Amino acid sequence: MAEDKRDQAVTEAEIAVHWKEEELIYPPTSFIAQANMTDETVLERFGEANFPNCYKEYADLLDWYEYWHTILDESKPPFWKWFVGGKINASYNCVDRHLAKHRNKTAIHFVPEPEDEAIQHMTFQELYVRVNEFAALLRDFCGLKAGDTVTLHMPMTADLAVTMLACARLGVIHSQVFSGFSGKAAADRAVDAKSRVLITGDAYYRAGKLIDHKEKADIAVDEAAKEGQKIEKVLIWQRYPGKYSAATPMVEGRDFIVNDLLKKYRHAIVEPERLPAEGTLFLMYTSGTTGKPKGAQHSIGGYLAYVTGTSKYIQDIHPEDVYWCMADIGWITGHSYIIYGPLALAASSVIYEGVPNYPDAGRPWRVAKELGVNIFHTSPTAIRALRRADPDLPLKYDHNFKHMTTVGEPIEPEVWKWYHKVVGHGKAVIVDTWWQTETGGFLCSTIPGLHPMKAGSCGPGVPGIYPVVFDDEGNVLPRGAGKAGNICIRNPWPGRMLTIWGDDERFVRQYYARYNKDPKSKDWRDWPYFAGDGAVYAADGYFRILGRIDDVINVSGHRLGTKELESAALTVTEVGEAAVVPVPDPIKGRVPHMFVSLKPGYTASKELEQKISDTLAREIGPFAKPGKVWIVPDMPKTRSGKIMRRVLAAIADHKDPGDVMTLANPEVVEAIQKMS
Ligand code: WTA
Repeated sequence: MAEDKRDQAVTEAEIAVHWKEEELIYPPTSFIAQANMTDETVLERFGEANFPNCYKEYADLLDWYEYWHTILDESKPPFWKWFVGGKINASYNCVDRHLAKHRNKTAIHFVPEPEDEAIQHMTFQELYVRVNEFAALLRDFCGLKAGDTVTLHMPMTADLAVTMLACARLGVIHSQVFSGFSGKAAADRAVDAKSRVLITGDAYYRAGKLIDHKEKADIAVDEAAKEGQKIEKVLIWQRYPGKYSAATPMVEGRDFIVNDLLKKYRHAIVEPERLPAEGTLFLMYTSGTTGKPKGAQHSIGGYLAYVTGTSKYIQDIHPEDVYWCMADIGWITGHSYIIYGPLALAASSVIYEGVPNYPDAGRPWRVAKELGVNIFHTSPTAIRALRRADPDLPLKYDHNFKHMTTVGEPIEPEVWKWYHKVVGHGKAVIVDTWWQTETGGFLCSTIPGLHPMKAGSCGPGVPGIYPVVFDDEGNVLPRGAGKAGNICIRNPWPGRMLTIWGDDERFVRQYYARYNKDPKSKDWRDWPYFAGDGAVYAADGYFRILGRIDDVINVSGHRLGTKELESAALTVTEVGEAAVVPVPDPIKGRVPHMFVSLKPGYTASKELEQKISDTLAREIGPFAKPGKVWIVPDMPKTRSGKIMRRVLAAIADHKDPGDVMTLANPEVVEAIQKMS
């Protein structure tokens, strides 16, 4: 493995050196005139000399029941705690506190995928009512209380926002699993979280089809039971209230329609729990370097302060803005920057049910126009797909963005420029925000009213974040070194996850062991956070992120662990060995190619390739299907028996695999090359 990683890092470094510098583009004066942050002293206020007290500014964007007494508890690195002594509730901060001024303002615009279906506008008043009623149901019907976990496997609807905020009101830890994940994947996460309640939806629209989602709940319950986790109740939101839209039958005594149950809880008011700042708000499972997804455990006070602060200054959200982030709430981007950050700031947040190019690539711009969206947020994959569909189309629409975000993957400068010129009509500012599930909120980005933009570079660390690039030996690569290294964050920050759910040891090992020289040190300076991304630090202080240096593949901005994919492939009887490699793709950024060798006695066939592909879709989700399945005679291996993924990746990408003579079996390389 180590050999593989080093090889990959070298390649990335070479790419970096040949990159040409892009010019700086300054924000328009009209943007600066209204921006939330134009004061240059912010950089100093959030500078190292004022750390950690700088984060008081973010904490003060929230309402506290009891104000905290210790901004940062440093006693047990890297298990730092923020705002200790503080009592707070996230649901109160996103809903109740806005009633005085914004009661009748839209909190959520729900946009159904079918264009002939009306858009629903939910005011803060209605959100308040629905969150209270559903919280009463969770408490009284399900017996859930602060500290319990509940697994959500919900599609993109306003009901998902209601569900999360109702959990937050009670202090119940929600764990939303992306609806595109299979029932089995939902089960694995419910088992790890020990959830006895599953909340789901009956159906949702995707690319013009009404998909039966309830069938996944049946699989999830069965699979969880096999692993010893009993899911006692399944709560089902209806896509059309009052009508059951799935073909899969209800299971008597286990499945309950939310709308039926809610009748009993009409007009209920549930006082928000006064919870410790360092309590847990939610889990978000993400892929790592081993087969098992890990639950990033996020805090209440620190997380909410961080996403609120970054939403205000980096997303430039004001209460009167209409904000649309096209991510799925099943990923961290949706949690931080559809729900918690924007709603804490009383913005109107758009939730869109379906795919961006349905029924055609003009859909996003029609929605934006109709709702008056002025802040838009999406991923390079979506931008590339919309660009390919029709590169001039957005110019034909008169939507009006002041601000646009890109997130989730590196964006090619050419694609960035198209986003700027065509989608943003040349006048919207762009922020390229680099961060991760684990980090809660943005790590690197320009401050849109202060910094110029640079295509393909995310920018410097955001206020209060001090990034550094190390080489493999732990030497600091200075600005303008022209070499790639591993980007780390030198300091703690309030949005970082508390730990990996149930696995403190793995948390330390994965994120801190790499560059910590003294595990006994109490000084945060000895604990750089290892992000797992390669990066280049340019002379002007902007970072360019190159992508993962570990075994994670970023497909359309979805994180997939190679080990996860490989373990799923190994469940196919015929498969003896499996190795997954990322291959560059013009739309999705990267796609996984799956190499397998068969157990003795089996032969390759198209049917078997299909079976392997179908297995991945079933075990993980359709988005995990490999771009190609290669059934190879044998894997190229080192003499110590390690599969050489680097060689496989080169072949899949039609590149020269380099010198392979030191392999144990160089002849298979040629055999595999002939297959491509
Ligand atoms: C990648 C998504 C380049 C990176 C918020 C990171 C990016 C992983 C960017 C985290 C960006 C995210 N430029 N790469 N602006 N943003 N990434 O956990 O490799 O789903 O480690 O969080 O996405 O993915 P995750």
